[in-house]
Amino acid sequence: MRVAVVGATGAVGSTMLGVLRERTFPADEVVPFASERSAGRSIDWGDAKLTVQPLSDESIEGFDIALFSAGSGVSEEWAPRFAEAGAVVVDNSSQWRMHEDVPLVVSEVNPDALSDHKGIVANPNCTTMQTVVALGPILRKAGIERVVMSSYQAVSGTGQKAVNELAEQASAVVGGSELPQPSVYPHQIAFNVLPQVETFKDGDDYSTEERKCMRETRKILGRDDVGVSATCVRVPVFTGHSVSANVQTREALSPDECRELLAAAPGLTVLDDPGNALYPTALDAAGRDDVLVGRIRRDPSHDRCLNLWIVGDNLRKGAATNAVQVAELLHVRGLLRAAPAA
Ligand SMILES: NC(=O)c1ccc[n+]([C@@H]2O[C@H](COP(=O)([O-])OP(=O)(O)OC[C@H]3O[C@@H](n4cnc5c(N)ncnc54)[C@H](OP(=O)(O)O)[C@@H]3O)[C@@H](O)[C@H]2O)c1
Repeated sequence: MRVAVVGATGAVGSTMLGVLRERTFPADEVVPFASERSAGRSIDWGDAKLTVQPLSDESIEGFDIALFSAGSGVSEEWAPRFAEAGAVVVDNSSQWRMHEDVPLVVSEVNPDALSDHKGIVANPNCTTMQTVVALGPILRKAGIERVVMSSYQAVSGTGQKAVNELAEQASAVVGGSELPQPSVYPHQIAFNVLPQVETFKDGDDYSTEERKCMRETRKILGRDDVGVSATCVRVPVFTGHSVSANVQTREALSPDECRELLAAAPGLTVLDDPGNALYPTALDAAGRDDVLVGRIRRDPSHDRCLNLWIVGDNLRKGAATNAVQVAELLHVRGLLRAAPAA
């Protein structure tokens, strides 16, 4: 099997390369792609050295799977071209997520949606991804009427430049030197909290990230009747998004039942003994593939509402790991197409 990783030099792409190796994905060949700026660069991949390729009509021929994380513009242009050339594309950008012909898949929640793919499969945004891993079992057990989610999102969710911006600002503050001008975010992110993730478009008072969380959650759960309200916030954390979710179920579900349900669900680990300071933190989640859940408690204002604290590694389960899990499912379920010979 030939696998293309498009955006291989970026935060998500380099994590996808690592996850492919860790999970011993059955690839005969892995080819990294990035922009012209990086073409020719060598990437260490286990014992192998991979050479970064530029995208061209010739270089994209003969792949079975293409894992994309190079932004929406690249996905818009190149995902259909890879698909036409015979690959199934798993795309991390927001370009295709709400397209009606494109399944939006979280491996533990709606893997059966893959059978309808037409060459492109989308990965949801990282905040939605980790939240629905916890919501899926609750929906199946007790139904969900409404979810109010508030996120505390790490800077690596914006990519490598944002990681550098936080590091530079933090060392300037600690070292007492002049702060560099913010370039990725509209305000200083070090030692600050910004109630803006992505942009506010056309006078909308919800950010584009908040709109994605609301729409994508419903599409993955396959339920238009679930109400979702989102507030997305950027915090000065390198890796690991945290989400506070208030979940109103249709049937009664006690905190103990919810804890038991989530502890038995795939992809989730419950850490919930707050009296002994046991609850998930972003640092706990960083580097892990499972989503961590804690602080499961009754909302005192409503007898069918629970509050949950959900933490995940935005680069791993929030992007790279799910993309590779989707690729594994496509392979195991015989849903790849026969790629034309290179
Ligand atoms: N970071 C997250 O937590 C996260 C989670 C879910 C989804 N995503 C999505 O994943 C995508 C990538 O995010 P990221 O955080 O990895 O960004 P990033 O660190 O900025 O990496 C971007 C990658 O895209 C490549 N690229 C840029 N322009 C290109 C072009 N014209 N042709 C080919 N490759 C090009 C870059 O190559 P060069 O190095 O050559 O510039 C780099 O490999 C975005 O769509 C983002 O929304 C990110």
